[in-house]
Amino acid sequence: MSEARPSDDAGAAEPPPGATAGATPALPGSRWRRAPRRFAARGAANRVRRSHAQTRVTVRMALVFLLAAGAAVLAGEGTWLALHLLLAGGVVLAISGVSLMLAVTWSAAPAPADGWAWAQRLLVAAGAAGVAAGRHWDLGDAVVAGAGAAYAAGLATLAVLLVVTVRAGVERRFDAAVAAYVGAVAAGLGGVAVGVHLAVDGAVLGLRHAHVTLNLLGLVGLVVGGTLPYFAATVGRSRMAAHATPRRLVATDAVLAVGLVLAVAGFAWAHDGLATAGLLAYALGILAVASAMPRPSERTLRWAGPRLLGLWAGAAWWATAVVALALGAGDGPGVTMIGPWVTALVVAAYLQVLWGSLAYLLPMLRGGGHERLSAGFATTRSWLALVAANVAGVALVLDAEALVAGALAIWGLDTAVRTGLVLRRA
Ligand code: HEM
Repeated sequence: MSEARPSDDAGAAEPPPGATAGATPALPGSRWRRAPRRFAARGAANRVRRSHAQTRVTVRMALVFLLAAGAAVLAGEGTWLALHLLLAGGVVLAISGVSLMLAVTWSAAPAPADGWAWAQRLLVAAGAAGVAAGRHWDLGDAVVAGAGAAYAAGLATLAVLLVVTVRAGVERRFDAAVAAYVGAVAAGLGGVAVGVHLAVDGAVLGLRHAHVTLNLLGLVGLVVGGTLPYFAATVGRSRMAAHATPRRLVATDAVLAVGLVLAVAGFAWAHDGLATAGLLAYALGILAVASAMPRPSERTLRWAGPRLLGLWAGAAWWATAVVALALGAGDGPGVTMIGPWVTALVVAAYLQVLWGSLAYLLPMLRGGGHERLSAGFATTRSWLALVAANVAGVALVLDAEALVAGALAIWGLDTAVRTGLVLRRA
């Protein structure tokens, strides 16, 4: 791996001047690999515009799933359906679009072909919708298994597109993140296989915890951990932390992955000590992620305000929830992945990180000149939503139902209105 440049301007959509031309040896036999040779001097032509266009479509699809999850909650359809629409659909589609876009921009690589981007997002969307509907309305094992297979194919396609993209890049500074994404997809494939098994053969407690751990701490968590050191710099328009070298970032990915594997093994074999050790190791990995994020300064906070603090608060909730679960704060005897701390992990950690990310990405993807961009950032800048997200987290762990409902309603409404305004003016 060539050396990353932690001091490069992370907010730039284009690589900085002086990007190492032709850092990736061009190998014959594949269109992808030939790309750097053609565009070696400054990255592939049109790649940012094309990648933004692809991301816009994927993020819109993610928003549809988020709306569907909200509708499922309002209709009282139960938490399983809402959680899977939200996580397997909305969050993973957002991950798909954004990870590919960051890989293209940070590596100065060609955007994937539109057909592949469509195939990837359609497989994930159809798979998530099929699993959610198939299990919720009891449409039969074949529907759930078929949709699960499509979903797994969508995840695998994402991993291939990411690897191919960074390998075709002029810069190799996003490789550590892509290593985390590949680990996340591997965990997600395991999680989906266990999920289909649970759906078809009935829930077994240890496997259920393993499913939740693989998906929440693996599929989603590894992506969050791999992205935050880069993305916090992008959102705050600052440089990456000087000590966030590729070697350290890969080591951080490794600590998270080892913790994940131990925790999953502990749950699958009903070994509490192993599950605790795994979760605590994973929490150490989260601290390493946080230490690799650029410290917020007065300047970055003035510029990015609530969206940057949302990333930090989300990371803090992520670490706190994992430690609490490691110490047995989950429901039931022993160490479990059930109960309010799991919900807090989803809502206050991951949803908050997603919210902070979209507050940056929606105006940025809308495009337009400097003024339009500033207006977009002003629209999505919400201190109210930041407070509501964190009140919801506290209320969840205190089991204060009315406060949870109120905080979520304020957060959801505020975000929906602001998102609508940005999209309407697009
Ligand atoms: C795509 C294939 C998937 C299938 C077939 C599936 C299936 C299942 C099943 C059968 C359960 C157990 C429900 C019970 O306790 O009765 C479950 C629980 C859960 N799954 Fe999945 N799942 C899938 C994907 C995902 C993904 C991608 C995520 C997260 C990113 C996820 C997160 C969860 C969570 C958080 C729970 C616990 C729900 C609760 O406590 O009510 N699942 N899933």
